[in-house]
Amino acid sequence: MGWYRAADLLLSRLDAEDAHGLAIRALKSGLMPRDRRPDPPSLRLEVLGRTLANPLGLAAGFDKNAEVPDALLGLGFGFVEIGSVTPRPQAGNPRPRLFRLGEDRGVINRMGFPGQGLEAARARLQGRPRQGVVGVNVGANKDSVDRAADYVTCAAALAPFADYLVCNVSSPNTPGLRNLQGRAQLGDLLKRVQDSIAAHPVPLLVKIAPDATDDDLDDIVAVCRDLRVDGIIIGNTTLSRPPSLRSARRGETGGLSGAPLMALSTEVLRKTARRVERQFLLIGCGGVGSGADAYAKIRAGASLVQLYSMLVYEGPPLVRRIKDELAALLARDRLASVVDAIGTDL
Ligand SMILES: Cc1cc2nc3c(=O)[nH]c(=O)nc-3n(C[C@H](O)[C@H](O)[C@H](O)COP(=O)(O)O)c2cc1C
Repeated sequence: MGWYRAADLLLSRLDAEDAHGLAIRALKSGLMPRDRRPDPPSLRLEVLGRTLANPLGLAAGFDKNAEVPDALLGLGFGFVEIGSVTPRPQAGNPRPRLFRLGEDRGVINRMGFPGQGLEAARARLQGRPRQGVVGVNVGANKDSVDRAADYVTCAAALAPFADYLVCNVSSPNTPGLRNLQGRAQLGDLLKRVQDSIAAHPVPLLVKIAPDATDDDLDDIVAVCRDLRVDGIIIGNTTLSRPPSLRSARRGETGGLSGAPLMALSTEVLRKTARRVERQFLLIGCGGVGSGADAYAKIRAGASLVQLYSMLVYEGPPLVRRIKDELAALLARDRLASVVDAIGTDL
């Protein structure tokens, strides 16, 4: 039995949020093994003005308070996204608010952006060495009157420490937040954020919901194109519930992620890619748990791929495994570089 399997037996008996707290503590203490093997050269790519050793990133929500970005990079991710950060600290929704759907390899969460707030995140980001690619994902406080102002506050304060910024307008757990994906609201929000980071220009991305309709996608892509936004992440958790779900917890309120999200999020990624026509970067996120999943997202138009939920089931060895599997798939298809695979299914 591998070390993670043994630890996992223990962790799976804990409440999901307690297990997550333990994982953060283990990362802080340096107990997690690092992935020291160099990445296959075929996985290397240039994006967002940086060179990444591989296209696999950790999605937002795991390290909301920027406590362990460097330990997470050490697990072998090509990039790590911290947040969502909100201007003021807030408690989020009452617990329990995070549920494993073991039979489905899924997760439902209704966290509601619990976090230590902007100042705590800024202090940590300011104090770390600038190495590796660390993105900063920003959101809004639940009780704020001017939600767009919250994004502006966080973006302006954190841009100097971010390799890229993400406006998360797609969390389903803050009432009304997803309305910011509407054409006028999104345009206003992104314009204000762009103005606020003019002194520290960093790539700006938007993270959208996999529940976006075709009309929503038309609007989102049009706004991003008009404003020359650098990229879109597709996407966040879904409010939908595929009929295939079997776990007892499938009726919990919140956003669904993990394996049951793979097909939906990849289809919406593909639709987005067809509209974007390679004018800006797409990051595929939702249900990635294997090299084949990552490859499917890349062929559907993603330059980069992110994951979170499958890490809950597979642990840190998943990162190495996905990279190795992806490199093997590229070799099978006689592609020298992952870049050659981007959008090949479109
Ligand atoms: C517990 C949990 C918390 C999350 N918190 C955030 C968040 O704060 N901001 C955000 O943009 N996405 C958040 N997400 C969404 C993930 O970043 C990701 O978009 C989604 O889970 C789909 O990817 P996955 O299937 O690989 O988990 C969260 C997901 C989970 C499971």
